[in-house]
Amino acid sequence: MAETEKVQLRRGLRDVYIDRTQISFIDGKAGKLLYRGYNIHDLAESCSFEEIVYLLLHGTLPTKVQLAELDALLKQGRKLPKEIVETIRITKNAHSMDVLRTAISALSAFDSDITDNSPEATLRKGIRLTAAASSIVTTHARIRDGKEPLEPNPELGHAANFLYMLSGEVPHPEDAALMDKDFVLHAEHGINASSFAARVTASTNADLHCAVTAGVAVLKGPAHGGAAESVMHMVNEIGTSDNVPTYIRDTLKGGGRIVGFGHRVYKTTDPRAVHLREDAKRLGERKGQPDLIAILEAVNEAMEPYCRKGICQNVDFWSGAIYHLLGIPTDLFISIFAMGRVPGWTAQVLEQFSNNILLRPLLTYEGEHDLPFVPIDKRS
Ligand code: ACO
Repeated sequence: MAETEKVQLRRGLRDVYIDRTQISFIDGKAGKLLYRGYNIHDLAESCSFEEIVYLLLHGTLPTKVQLAELDALLKQGRKLPKEIVETIRITKNAHSMDVLRTAISALSAFDSDITDNSPEATLRKGIRLTAAASSIVTTHARIRDGKEPLEPNPELGHAANFLYMLSGEVPHPEDAALMDKDFVLHAEHGINASSFAARVTASTNADLHCAVTAGVAVLKGPAHGGAAESVMHMVNEIGTSDNVPTYIRDTLKGGGRIVGFGHRVYKTTDPRAVHLREDAKRLGERKGQPDLIAILEAVNEAMEPYCRKGICQNVDFWSGAIYHLLGIPTDLFISIFAMGRVPGWTAQVLEQFSNNILLRPLLTYEGEHDLPFVPIDKRS
């Protein structure tokens, strides 16, 4: 009897629950997202990324004193060991995500807590990796452009320091606030592919550096974190908003996908996209580039019939435009997503460790059985 007759096969683990969580809640039909019980709309409007890091890692919003303590730890974690800067120089020709993955992995050689998987040590490592990820991305971006990396600026918060270490200029407060909000919106999103990879890694009792390295690797794919970059390529290909209807028709007719649309869980507008849409519009006006926003609005309008069928704009549809308008090179877009997601991956790993079980599903075998073995000198 074929095994497929006996098992209930759920390809892609679609609609499969693998455990309980207290980190985030997603209602894909209502377009609702909560971090630790708080609505993403409240958090995006009122919290800094540092507050979200605290919320995800500790489970509660911080007091001013707790936030100041975390802020100090994040600032300490920004400085990269010189060997990591050297690793970045050696790998400078690779994609930003490959450099990020490699440098995070290499940081395990310099972390005094590396062999300690206790909650306290994992939390400390998560804070250090959150800070270090920003320095890795900016250090790489400058080295590959022939510039010297910059020292972190202790006067600046996480998002402003990221923009500063990239460009060498203290950012406009509105640019820093937008970057901060973007990190807040990307910080956590349930058991998506990269968080699943992080949890599978933790389920073997491997450490946080392994889990975050796995998370970065999985996020790189265009079906997951790569969409913001692809949206900018799509905008360039479209050229002007007049070309949008033809582009959409031809792409869909050819069996292609419109990037920045669709989501495994959301069957309505991604609540994170709602914020970024308004922000992108304002930023486009402020930077004197309303044409880019006009193209995206036209794509959104042309996709309305598909949104009614559940293929709606996702967070990456607008985040790419925001990064572009902030002057960030396109190939850094996924790395920015990864930087924001480090606290989410850390929270997932902490939760996995707290009640660990090896994540080990099954495949149903459909190949041959009991073939007669032929020695190599008798094979034709
Ligand atoms: N454009 C056109 N059609 C689409 C799109 C899209 N963006 N997304 C899904 N569809 C269609 C598929 O062609 C398929 O149609 P069919 O049933 O007629 O074959 C149907 O919707 C279901 O598609 P699946 O790939 O099975 O749906 P899934 O839930 O697995 O896909 C995914 C989710 C991978 C994100 C998909 O929507 C996609 O490829 N989107 C474009 C890339 C993108 O924007 N990724 C970012 C995701 S958000 C994030 O990671 C933060």
